[in-house]
Amino acid sequence: MAIEDTGFVDRVVIITGAGSGIGRAAALAFARAGAHVLGVGRRQDALDSTAEQHPGIAVLATDISAAEAPDAVVQAAVDRWGGVDVLVNNAGATAMMPLAEATENRINDLFRLNVTAPSLLARAALPHLRRTNGSIINVSSTFGHRPAPHFSHYAATKSALEQLTRSWALELAPDGIRVNAVAPGPTESEALTAAGLPTDLVDQVKKAEAERIPLGRRGEPEEVATWILRLADPAAGWLTGQVLTVDGGLELL
Ligand SMILES: NC(=O)c1ccc[n+]([C@@H]2O[C@H](COP(=O)([O-])OP(=O)(O)OC[C@H]3O[C@@H](n4cnc5c(N)ncnc54)[C@H](OP(=O)(O)O)[C@@H]3O)[C@@H](O)[C@H]2O)c1
Repeated sequence: MAIEDTGFVDRVVIITGAGSGIGRAAALAFARAGAHVLGVGRRQDALDSTAEQHPGIAVLATDISAAEAPDAVVQAAVDRWGGVDVLVNNAGATAMMPLAEATENRINDLFRLNVTAPSLLARAALPHLRRTNGSIINVSSTFGHRPAPHFSHYAATKSALEQLTRSWALELAPDGIRVNAVAPGPTESEALTAAGLPTDLVDQVKKAEAERIPLGRRGEPEEVATWILRLADPAAGWLTGQVLTVDGGLELL
């Protein structure tokens, strides 16, 4: 069945990190499937570039790590469309941080963005998801369940997100709320640049990743976004607590 045929018409979807990469691809895919999408991120210009591509996308520029942000994000969707059906916790950051160079601030920042903010967004969305029998999709990583030398704290944040996914799935099942995760492997996006890696190192990392991936290449954001939609689709109504790895076979090594 084509995604366009699925049950997203007039559904309200919040997607964090919608100004680039996987979040932008997911925002466009949900909008094309008929949803009302609130795309969230810090950079207004990046969000505007996403919104320009489909009239079904509205945007809110905010730092989701800020104390008041989770409630404000959810309220913005509710004010505009009257509820929330799907929360996609996609915004996140990676960090190359060998243990010898780890600092309290960098560890805390990573956990605040990758674990605390998705948790508080889910909490803020909860009353609305209860009303709609909605769903939450968390975006993890292959390294949420595989070790990642030099990226250990990033891996730990994604591992936490996977365990939150399973625990919330059980906790919220009585409310009819489904909670699943997509765990992408190396995918074309701004992630490595956003992590502060210089261009030559980004190129090296990308080449090394492509060589390691059994299917022989990095992924495209659309190839991850399509699975975010499928997990959120009401047609997947009996699926909860699952982490779907989309990584060209990398996790199998
Ligand atoms: N690409 C990969 O290889 C890969 C692999 C595994 C998992 N993932 C995960 O996939 C998700 C999406 O990443 P991506 O690959 O698409 O990378 P990306 O292009 O860097 O996207 C991350 C998005 O998150 C937003 N963001 C970052 N910090 C934020 C904050 N404090 N508040 C609000 N928004 C914030 C960024 O926008 P602003 O800078 O404008 O805020 C950006 O649009 C992340 O959770 C990442 O960990 C990616």
